[in-house]
Amino acid sequence: MTDSLAHRRFAAGHVLFEAGDAADAAYIVEKGWVEIFVRGAGGVQRLSLLGPGEIFGEMALVDDSPRSAGARVLEDVECVVVERAQILREIDRATPLMQLLVRTLIFRLRAATAGTHVWASAAIPDVTAQAVAHIKIEHDVRQALKGGEIAAYLQPIVRLDDGVPIGFEALARWHHPRLGVLGPEALLPAVARAGLVEALDLLVVREAATMVGALNRRLTLAGRRPVFVAANFGAAHFNDLRLAPLLAEILEEAQLPAERLKIEITETTLISNPKAGEALAQLRARGMSISLDDFGTGYSGLSYLSKFPIDYLKIDGSFVAAAREERKSADILRAMLALGAQLEIDAIAEGIEDEAQASLLREMGCLYGQGYLYGRPLPANEACAALFDRI
Ligand code: CMP
Ligand code: MG
Repeated sequence: MTDSLAHRRFAAGHVLFEAGDAADAAYIVEKGWVEIFVRGAGGVQRLSLLGPGEIFGEMALVDDSPRSAGARVLEDVECVVVERAQILREIDRATPLMQLLVRTLIFRLRAATAGTHVWASAAIPDVTAQAVAHIKIEHDVRQALKGGEIAAYLQPIVRLDDGVPIGFEALARWHHPRLGVLGPEALLPAVARAGLVEALDLLVVREAATMVGALNRRLTLAGRRPVFVAANFGAAHFNDLRLAPLLAEILEEAQLPAERLKIEITETTLISNPKAGEALAQLRARGMSISLDDFGTGYSGLSYLSKFPIDYLKIDGSFVAAAREERKSADILRAMLALGAQLEIDAIAEGIEDEAQASLLREMGCLYGQGYLYGRPLPANEACAALFDRI
């Protein structure tokens, strides 16, 4: 092995750094041995011997302080260099609670060897405050799911040529006792951290399917066409193959035929879950259809459009919003719709807010859409009543 930015060799006797030095990297030992030491009144004191598989020099990077000890090579060392920026990036990405834990552990270690080591820094108030906020909201989410504070709202999906609703997208809303009605931006990250994605999605689809099942019976009795409901499913459902049988049960209870349920899955979920293809095939075999959500915002490749069984593309609202102002965005939108048409996958445009956007989409050949122009998400019973009056 030769020296490179990521790999270094140090000969026996070499001192990598002394306690109190500024730090720029940590090291993972691949071969050889390193002594960690401090200098005291009685001379050099060995704190530890580190060998293959162990990391050293990480503490000063994590808590942005001088080296807590020195490091000297005892037996020729080969190691991997971990740059400061890399460690800081990873720490930044960690949840506030994880950041707090890591910083606290280092603080404790420095304090335990204090006397010679006076650089220990206190907790960062921002990180602690954020960690506390996360812990509280996760607790609240758990309670909310149990206590019926989370409900399915329904937003109409319409035919763009005449604006007639043909179905709904079901969306979770949280009636928070203090903060009012919260949408997905506030709800979903907390739900994901608490490991409750499956519980939330199933609650929403169960409630929505029950309401739409009942609405369809009324529509059919009145001699009118039934509507569909589209529900969102996060990555947690696609680690195994339980979703299809679970949904079959829910649909049976709700007396909603499988043909009336669309499964919304994002590009990112589809790409990052090896079981997703098989799971989608099962759902489709039972009669449900598949919508690719947030199309155009996630994965950049397109091969999955032919690889997976996809029935609808949901064009992200950001493309619709930009299309009237920027030529290039309009061209991208047109190209996405052309791609859908070529593959015989119908497109549903999201985020339509005004008539100008709607007519642009119609002109580009887009058949279906949703957005505030046609209706905001409403509590399921209100949305069903409004739809019954409109078609
Ligand atoms: P850092 O403070 O960056 O530089 C000195 C390194 O020695 C430190 O990170 C740890 O990787 C390591 N180190 C410090 N104290 C101990 C200890 N008590 N036992 C083992 N390793 C230590
Ligand atoms: Mg969606």
